[in-house]
Amino acid sequence: MPLEDLNQQIKNCRKCSLWQNANNAVVGEGPANAEIMLVGQNPGAEEDKTGRPFIGRAGKFLNKVLAENSIAREKVFITNTVKHLTPQNRKPSPDEVAACVPYLVEQVKLVKPKIVVLMGAVAWQAPRVEGVEYLETVHPSAAMRFTKMRKRFQEDFKTLRNRIEILQKK
Ligand code: URA
Repeated sequence: MPLEDLNQQIKNCRKCSLWQNANNAVVGEGPANAEIMLVGQNPGAEEDKTGRPFIGRAGKFLNKVLAENSIAREKVFITNTVKHLTPQNRKPSPDEVAACVPYLVEQVKLVKPKIVVLMGAVAWQAPRVEGVEYLETVHPSAAMRFTKMRKRFQEDFKTLRNRIEILQKK
């Protein structure tokens, strides 16, 4: 199935009730053959308005850390575990994650990135696709707020930079 068909399925999804509250499903963006995939929790208000992932405050912080590691955002596929906004930006429930996470698995199978970065505890729950390397880090919103988390996030992105260089040579 092409990525566009999957995107259409996500936009039409009624498997949980989050769509009722949302302006847009935020399917994700990036090249269909990206080597790196970044996965957050779920879109916030700005992402819901525009239909694009990580464009609010957390997104600006993410952009900065990507740039510091010479990783071009346009070359990365960026998505979320849950594709719709949640009320008051609460954590998605286990049922909502279970309903939505198969779309993420499909995205990984279609894009076939070399490495998937799971950002935050909700994303860590994603089932792993064989043959793909996974890196767990904290969520950029937490990294923005807490020094210890920020250090970990920055270290993990350095690791990402190093791993992708190694994987590209393979
Ligand atoms: N936080 C997320 O987890 N995802 C977004 O797209 C924006 C903020």
